[in-house]
Amino acid sequence: MAPDWTARTTDPAVTSLVCQSITVLSPRGIAASVNRLIRTGHLEVGERLPTVRDLAVELSVSPATISAAWQTLSTVGAIESRGRAGTFVRRVAEPSRPVRYLSVGWAPNYVGFDLSTSMPDPALLPSLEESLRSLGSASLRWTASYLEDPVHPDLRDEILEDWPYQPERLVTVEGALDGLSRVIDQIVSVGVRVVVEDPGFPALIDLLEARGAEVVPVALDDQGMLPDALAVALVGDPVAVFLHSRSQNPTGAGLTADRRDALAKVLKGSRALIVEADHSGMISRAPDVSLGTRLPERTVHIRSYSKSHGPDLRTAALAGPADVVDPLMSRRMLGPGWTSQILQSLLLQLLRDPSAQACVARARSTYQEKTTSLTNLLEAEGLHVHPGDGVNLWVGVNNEHSAMQTLAAAGVRVAPGSSFSITPNHSPHIRITTAHLPDDVDDQTDIARHIVRAARATPGQKSGVS
Ligand SMILES: Cc1ncc(COP(=O)(O)O)c(C=O)c1O
Repeated sequence: MAPDWTARTTDPAVTSLVCQSITVLSPRGIAASVNRLIRTGHLEVGERLPTVRDLAVELSVSPATISAAWQTLSTVGAIESRGRAGTFVRRVAEPSRPVRYLSVGWAPNYVGFDLSTSMPDPALLPSLEESLRSLGSASLRWTASYLEDPVHPDLRDEILEDWPYQPERLVTVEGALDGLSRVIDQIVSVGVRVVVEDPGFPALIDLLEARGAEVVPVALDDQGMLPDALAVALVGDPVAVFLHSRSQNPTGAGLTADRRDALAKVLKGSRALIVEADHSGMISRAPDVSLGTRLPERTVHIRSYSKSHGPDLRTAALAGPADVVDPLMSRRMLGPGWTSQILQSLLLQLLRDPSAQACVARARSTYQEKTTSLTNLLEAEGLHVHPGDGVNLWVGVNNEHSAMQTLAAAGVRVAPGSSFSITPNHSPHIRITTAHLPDDVDDQTDIARHIVRAARATPGQKSGVS
């Protein structure tokens, strides 16, 4: 049925189709039937739905029942009210593909130097075999019950020892991204505003856009979000502000105590939840500075152990106020429930084991050395780059496409800056994961030369290797 875009009243055929499809006369039953008509294409985008009053009369139910059904459909983005013009079928969001995240580049069998993925160097992770061997039965905890405390109590104590503040709740989740995703499920719905760093983490932006949120970008410098820019963004009453506490992806920026205090001052006047990701955790050199020390009742702080202890542990700690964390954990019971206590025992073992601690410290200094080495080599070639914390270097270029092409021709893969940028006219950049630089100084020097040529490349210039 093709909608008549100019219609001022509902097509009687639509009213009859809607009425015939409804079998259960509750708000939920009505919403489910109409949603099914939309999903199956029987009601097209832009179709005007019957008014609350008309449908209530047709179905012999109260107007409140229809209103509640329309409210449910509008919350999930299936319909929209256009005031006095009526209520219309809305364009249903495409099944969400993580477009930005995929555009960073996945090339598992890449032949050449792959500096495009912000992953730890496997050679610098603590040995899981050793930790598993020394995990005696006294410290191995596992459960046969669905009803136990989902967090290993000793692990909670261990993590809290160097947590930047005393949170009301601390739980574990399956990585920082899982934590972000679960918080988003709790607080973000279609049409709400959320503030994020620009440039920012592509997967986070994908998640927020898939949810139908309006993403409001805020610029940052090497100390984090700019307080004045945040103040402007808060005027739109966002439900949440997402930021990194340290090793910001992609820039490597980290909150200083002064910047935290300036941001806390600005945030005091808003109601937004603060969601901090410490995705690099213990491989960061900077201290973990959190707004939780100033606004604990509004801060969720997530620390991942993926970069320090291995992505396959799939474990991050998530702390925050009970009114956010408790519903999140209840919802999680309708899925994985909790992080396996076996994995939690292993993480605890790794955190306490002196040789694993030494390994993480070695990784931290190696990442710093590699970033410093590449920065110096670029500087020697006349390209100034500001080194950040963590495993990445954010490099300004003349033209992103030309830079990517030049590097691809030289067998070097990096991530395109546009995948991280929210404002369309961002200044062109590439992100280089220094963690995967080769150890050999000659190889590093060659790579640095290619990067400098790439940074200066302009459209139309030949990208061949010289
Ligand atoms: C900012 C940021 N958050 C989260 C993640 C994913 O971390 P996890 O493995 O803990 O989910 C990454 C991965 O690079 C990241 O850069």
